[in-house]
Amino acid sequence: MRKLGDENITPQKEKRSDRDKIFRQIQFIADEPGKNVMNALNSSGLGPNQSDNEYGPHTLLKLCYLNYYIGYFSTIANKWKQGGMFDRVIFLDAFGGSGLVKISGTNYSVLGSTVLAARNTKFDKVVAVEIDAAKARLLEGRLKVLSPGRAIVKRGDVNVLIREIVDEMITDKTIVLFFVDPEGMEPAFAELKYLMDKTRHVDIIMNFTWGVYRLNGRIMARFNDNDIRRMKSLIPTYEPGKDPTDAILKMFEDLFGKPYGDQVEIRSDKTEYSLILRVRRTRSDSSWVKSMSEFGKIINSADGRFALTLLQQAKSVQDSLF
Ligand SMILES: C[S@@+](CC[C@H](N)C(=O)[O-])C[C@H]1O[C@@H](n2cnc3c(N)ncnc32)[C@H](O)[C@@H]1O
Repeated sequence: MRKLGDENITPQKEKRSDRDKIFRQIQFIADEPGKNVMNALNSSGLGPNQSDNEYGPHTLLKLCYLNYYIGYFSTIANKWKQGGMFDRVIFLDAFGGSGLVKISGTNYSVLGSTVLAARNTKFDKVVAVEIDAAKARLLEGRLKVLSPGRAIVKRGDVNVLIREIVDEMITDKTIVLFFVDPEGMEPAFAELKYLMDKTRHVDIIMNFTWGVYRLNGRIMARFNDNDIRRMKSLIPTYEPGKDPTDAILKMFEDLFGKPYGDQVEIRSDKTEYSLILRVRRTRSDSSWVKSMSEFGKIINSADGRFALTLLQQAKSVQDSLF
């Protein structure tokens, strides 16, 4: 049985089927088998709560992709740290949530991004920002139970707090996995860029919201100063009349040089959003880069209904064990 503090699943060498690859991730995210995280939280009065975010089953696919990458990133970054290239490995969750996510249409709650990272002891620090006071309080309490002393929660607007976090915790010897998972147009990249100015060693996974396209549609229909300003606050290089995807990819290009990139669509019965991964890597890392892009293809071809079926299977395997 897996115990509290166990690591994220580091992808295995042997060949697994596509379904198995997602299933293993969903089992981990659903805290099965064993319910070690949920049991620890429940016994501290910090189990599922009405302040938790609630999203459809497609959210499991987002968390699968993140958790898969956490496994790779933390292993490699740690190896580099042992070799003296870095002195700290940090997971920075710009939009932290409360630590648990309720899956709508079910009675299930699963582990959110910060908790997934906090379970991985290869991160020296896990730092999360959350604007909502109730969610931030829950996240703080949960992380105290799950990884005492290793996680920090900042309450407030990440676009403002980013400077304080970077000044306090980041040097050019820090390697960071930066997860940017807003619900809409909340991130201001002109501000978040402060992190990349401090250290070049940042990998990013960004949830690129479909709200950008809706807003672009509105701008195309009637050029409106407010809408254009809003778009520019997310994507400073956006030019009205041009595709925002090009602007955001160009922005990442400028921020990261010539990194490896991938874009994965997260779908319910329609595309909900896409995840953009930008990674600073050399050719020597090509084997895991290949494996990451293969996993991206599996996520691309899955949808919320499939994820829900796997979640139910993960839960029923558990039920039949006890
Ligand atoms: C999509 S949810 C994040 C879910 C989380 N990644 C997880 O897996 O549990 C977005 C979160 O960002 C928070 N939020 C919204 N605007 C924010 C801001 N400007 N700064 C920090 N957090 C913000 C919301 O309250 C919400 O909990």
